[in-house]
Amino acid sequence: MDFDIANAELVDRGRLRVEWAETQMPVLRQIRERFGVERPLAGQRIAACLHVTTETANLMSTLVAGGAEVRLCASNPLSTQDDVAAWLVEDLGIGTFAVHGEDRDRYYRHIHAVLDFAPTITIDDGADVISTLHSERQDLIPGIVAGMEETTTGVIRLRAMAADGALKYPLIAVNDANTKRLFDNYYGTGQSTIDGILRATNILLAGRNVVVCGYGQCGRGVATRAHGMGASVIVCEVDPLQALQAALDGYRVMPISDAAAVGHVFVTVTGDCGVIRGEHFDRMQDGAILCNSGHFDVEIDLVALSEMATSKRRVRHETDEYLMPDGRRIYILGEGRLVNLASAEGHPASVMDMSFANQALCSEYVAKNKLSVDVHTVPAEIDAEVARLKLASMGVRIDTLTPEQEKYLSSWQSGT
Ligand code: ADE
Repeated sequence: MDFDIANAELVDRGRLRVEWAETQMPVLRQIRERFGVERPLAGQRIAACLHVTTETANLMSTLVAGGAEVRLCASNPLSTQDDVAAWLVEDLGIGTFAVHGEDRDRYYRHIHAVLDFAPTITIDDGADVISTLHSERQDLIPGIVAGMEETTTGVIRLRAMAADGALKYPLIAVNDANTKRLFDNYYGTGQSTIDGILRATNILLAGRNVVVCGYGQCGRGVATRAHGMGASVIVCEVDPLQALQAALDGYRVMPISDAAAVGHVFVTVTGDCGVIRGEHFDRMQDGAILCNSGHFDVEIDLVALSEMATSKRRVRHETDEYLMPDGRRIYILGEGRLVNLASAEGHPASVMDMSFANQALCSEYVAKNKLSVDVHTVPAEIDAEVARLKLASMGVRIDTLTPEQEKYLSSWQSGT
């Protein structure tokens, strides 16, 4: 079996951590048990490009239980947990290509390595496999039945490909499922981003001005959790509707050029590039802490910051200090990459349970159904099933409509 990991001897620690995550993933566990009996993925070769975490390991074992052959590479150079990579190779026995801190060349060599076994299904987080397939490995596309995309940024890329007429195989936007977007993006990003900031810096958030750039589901999650810890939250937005929601949620809303001067901690979660730039670094206070929780490391202009700074040194794990000519210090966490995965462990398993249940059930769906070449939403019955299973696992019961209520909802005659 081909693989490229940092150190196979980390397997024991990896096993304990993967087992711990499993205790928090009851929905995926149930799916894995059914897959073990029904083997709906028999004959499928799945190429996955995901953050190599304990939660991903549990998705991988679910796909294997379903009968698939699986290869996995990292979807970010800094998110790989090397002990988990060891477990994937040593215990689960799947070709894993992921090394924490890998450079760009190795990252793309790993993407090609998972493609080399001619997948029938792809699973992406950020669309790097999909875009590599479309640009450099088009010969493999006829063998692919469909793929899934995990994250907002990836779905944006796919929709751009579809609009350009460039898309060549069917994809499901797992990100857009309600049981993904409303939970993983909001609760997952919210908690794990704060976790990343605190593990990197150990600062007290209470009393700090925390600037959140972007008020989508992820930004809202970060703002809520920062507020809950006593921070004074400032939101920067370009979308008038989202800015209005932020204002009515009780946050101060202002352009980043104003926020730059008053912020103590800055978090970018926009999915766009150049959100915090040279003119903003110029206005920041001594000691400002900056990090990103959007998929790519393009939101903070680190090239500009490096050019402006007179020196740079690593002062703590994943914390770099840039010294400005006037003596101010600006701190960058996780090299501007996803702070929740670079400085912490990513979203908690309990929320990834729903995201990855969608991935597993969509893998089964595309193995059984032929889709047109387009970006599809997750079938509503899968979304509802994930919510139902999650509620059941939490012991939460809900009401059902009475026949009279059903009739009322489907009638239009009764009014005032
Ligand atoms: N994305 C965010 N958190 C994650 C996690 N824990 N595992 C895999 N992908 C993630």
